[in-house]
Amino acid sequence: MSKNAFIRCRKLTKIYRKGRIEVTPLEDLTLDVEAGDFLALMGPSGSGKTTLLNLIAGIDQPSSGDLFVGDNEISRMSRGQLTKWRASGCGYIFQLYHLVPILSAFENVELPLLLQSGLSRSKRRAKVTSALELVGLSDRADHRPSELSGGQEQRVAIARALVADPPLLVADEPTGDLDRESADQILGLLAELANEHGKTIVMVTHDARAANAAARTLHLEKGKLVEQREELGA
Ligand SMILES: Nc1ncnc2c1ncn2[C@@H]1O[C@H](COP(=O)(O)OP(=O)(O)OP(=O)(O)O)[C@@H](O)[C@H]1O
Ligand SMILES: [Mg+2]
Repeated sequence: MSKNAFIRCRKLTKIYRKGRIEVTPLEDLTLDVEAGDFLALMGPSGSGKTTLLNLIAGIDQPSSGDLFVGDNEISRMSRGQLTKWRASGCGYIFQLYHLVPILSAFENVELPLLLQSGLSRSKRRAKVTSALELVGLSDRADHRPSELSGGQEQRVAIARALVADPPLLVADEPTGDLDRESADQILGLLAELANEHGKTIVMVTHDARAANAAARTLHLEKGKLVEQREELGA
């Protein structure tokens, strides 16, 4: 266990209460993820994968335990602080892209930057342009989501997650709705972002092929983590 890991979960517990029903998808979970690591998270439906992603991304708050991302003590932050941190601290990639249908690819990617004050229009333009370039979609900037393939939509969504240059990306089944070829493109892109751009990536997947693209795979079972494989020299 490393003291300096980028993501550090200690005895992380999440309990959901709805009326008289109580669900504990995560219990006393301990996890370290090093900076620049590409981690795949697998496990049966309902095992708490999305719950864990949402905690790491600061979308949801733990019931108890500690969670650090870099120097940020995520588990102690208020909702307002989390919202602020997320804007440039973490990009989220969804299975179904979640692009705004009436906006162009360019405008979708620009959205997170509009939340940052003091960024000039030309600075925004430069950031969006380089994010679209990075995902190989410079020539589709003016297309709306309905004018793009699923794989292209997901690449726009990745550009949107990247545009504020967060050190951390989380992805919930990012290839779950794609054919094999598009899925491989997305996985190649994520691996490149980790290996060449130093992004730390946590990806939930049901697909063993997708998990193979990651340097490390963990299985979540009944709120606990089981390590599957760690690539040598990764
Ligand atoms: N907001 C919520 N309120 C109440 N219960 C919830 C909430 N979110 C998740 N749960 C419960 O927590 C458990 C874990 O859910 P989670 O979405 O993390 O599973 P998952 O591993 O992502 O599953 P899947 O592979 O189907 O996406 C489930 O039993 C679910 O019903
Ligand atoms: Mg899920």
